[in-house]
Order: sequence, then C-alpha cells, then structure tokens
Amino acid sequence: MAYENLLFEIRDGVGLITLNRPKALNALNSALLTELGHLLDEIAVNEEIRAVVITGSGDKAFAAGADISEMQPMTAMEGRKFSANGMNAITKLETIPQPTIAAVNGFALGGGCEVVLACDIRVASTKAKFGQPEVNLGVTPGFGATQRLPRLVGAGIAKELLLTGDVINAERAHQIGLANHVVEPEELLNKAFEIANKIASKGQLAVKMTKQGVNEGLNMDVERGLQYETELFALSFSTEDQKEGMAAFLEKRAAAFKGK
Ligand code: CAA
Repeated sequence: MAYENLLFEIRDGVGLITLNRPKALNALNSALLTELGHLLDEIAVNEEIRAVVITGSGDKAFAAGADISEMQPMTAMEGRKFSANGMNAITKLETIPQPTIAAVNGFALGGGCEVVLACDIRVASTKAKFGQPEVNLGVTPGFGATQRLPRLVGAGIAKELLLTGDVINAERAHQIGLANHVVEPEELLNKAFEIANKIASKGQLAVKMTKQGVNEGLNMDVERGLQYETELFALSFSTEDQKEGMAAFLEKRAAAFKGK
C-alpha cells in the first residue's frame, strides 16, 4: 500500500516509520492515523521485521498533536469516531508483536505524546518537548494519555501534566521515566537503531513473548500475571531457539537464532 502521510523503510530487519506532515508539524489527522493502522497491520505479520523505530519528519516535531484544524468543527459523534480511529492505530503500535522504539526528535504534544506512550522504549533528542496540552483546547486527551501516562510515570506526575497542560523538556521527561535516554539530535536515530538492532539479534519468539508478558501482565493482578509468565516460559521451551540459545551458551559460542 502507498502511504501519503507516512514514510516507511526496512533497514536490516528494523522498520523505520516516519510521521510525515512536516508543514503541520506532523499533526495526526484521520488520513495519517488510518494509514498508520494499515501499516502496523502489515508490519505485525512481516517476520522480516524484528523491531520498529518511529520518528517524525523535519527537525522540529515528532508530532504536535491531533490535527486541530480537522477537529475544530467536529460534533461529539465525529469526535468519537476520530478518537476511535486514533486509538485503533495507536493501540496497534502497543500490541504489535515486534518491540517499538520512539525516537522523539522534537515536539511530542497531545496525540504525538500519546503515540510515544504506546511505544515500548522511548529515546529523546535534547530538543524534544513532551506534553498533554488538551486542556488548553477545552478537550480531554483522546488517544490514550489518561490511561497510559499514569501507568508509565505514576498518577501524581501524570495528573500534573494532564491537568496543567505543561510542556516539559527532554531532561525532565528522562527524570520522570517518560524518556529512557536523552541524546544529541544527530545521535537520535543511531541510538534508537542501536537498541532496535540489539533486540533484533535476540531470539525473536522470546522477544515477542516477553513483550506480550509485560503488556498482558499489566492488565492482570500480580498472581495471575506471574502464572501467565510461567505459561510463557513453558511455551518458550517448545521453540528451536530455546534449544539453540542454551546449547550455544554451554558450547561458549554465539547463538544462531532462527525465530522458530
Ligand atoms: N494541528 C494542526 N496543525 C498544527 C498543529 C496541530 N496539532 N500543531 C501545529 N500545527 C500547524 C500550525 O497551525 C502551523 O500551520 P501554518 O503554518 O499553516 O500556520 C504549523 O503547524 C507550524 O506551527 P506553529 O506556527 O504553531 O509553530 P510554532 O513553532 O510557533 O509552535 C507548537 C509549535 C508549540 C508545537 C504549536 O504549533 C502548538 O502549540 N501546536 C498545538 C499543540 C497542541 O495543542 N497539541 C494537542 C492537540 S489536541 C490532541 O492531540 C487531542 C488528542 O489527544 C487526540
């Protein structure tokens, strides 16, 4: 499928998605969100892709939020549809089997920050800015921030960001656990790819099951989550990668994983 609002390429088993509406600071309109959902469906079933990096085009923004010019005239029902479309795409980002890494190159505000929140790992450039400024516009977040932000940084910090609409820099994002790493802008993609390539070199079934274990476990009580982990652990023993990974350790050589 051809995409008008996204760029996509595969580099050595790592998919690179670029949100691509630079004139509107990569604002997330319905067309972009629909395309993102389709692209993630394609990525999810593509075994060549072992990790995904997502960034924004241009040097100013990752994404400055949902598209305000598209939203301004909407009725409540249209707002619901807009939110559902965004939730669908962004939840796919969270749930595709491959690990995802946000490379935050500039403004990640509102819906842009919500895309970042749905990724597994976040790398920020020193120029990145994060915030949930929806209250400035008289709306609530609509792509997941009321749920994902408190789970990531704790309810107290999340509420302050959500209720004040404050925009924070990369250093503060790092302090609160919203950014895993902060690097110079020219190092941003290198750092994101360094992490992605490391993940891509591991046993892929184990990587996917581990992501699933964390995601599913966060929606369970601890007892059930621990039981779920035992089931995933048992399942990993049905893979060739487990035999190979452990044999390689015992034979003091690098493992040759096949993703089987
Ligand atoms: N939607 C639509 N267009 C946007 C946009 C957005 N979210 N953010 C920026 N743009 C457009 C601007 O309208 C402007 O277009 P024109 O050149 O045609 O006028 C262009 O991008 C450049 O933006 P600015 O001139 O404003 O750039 P700046 O450097 O002065 O300011 C900024 C940058 C602080 C990020 C500012 O653009 C801004 O505050 N943007 C809006 C941020 C925001 O409120 N995001 C939340 C949206 S609501 C949401 O996301 C809801 C949800 O959860 C689903």
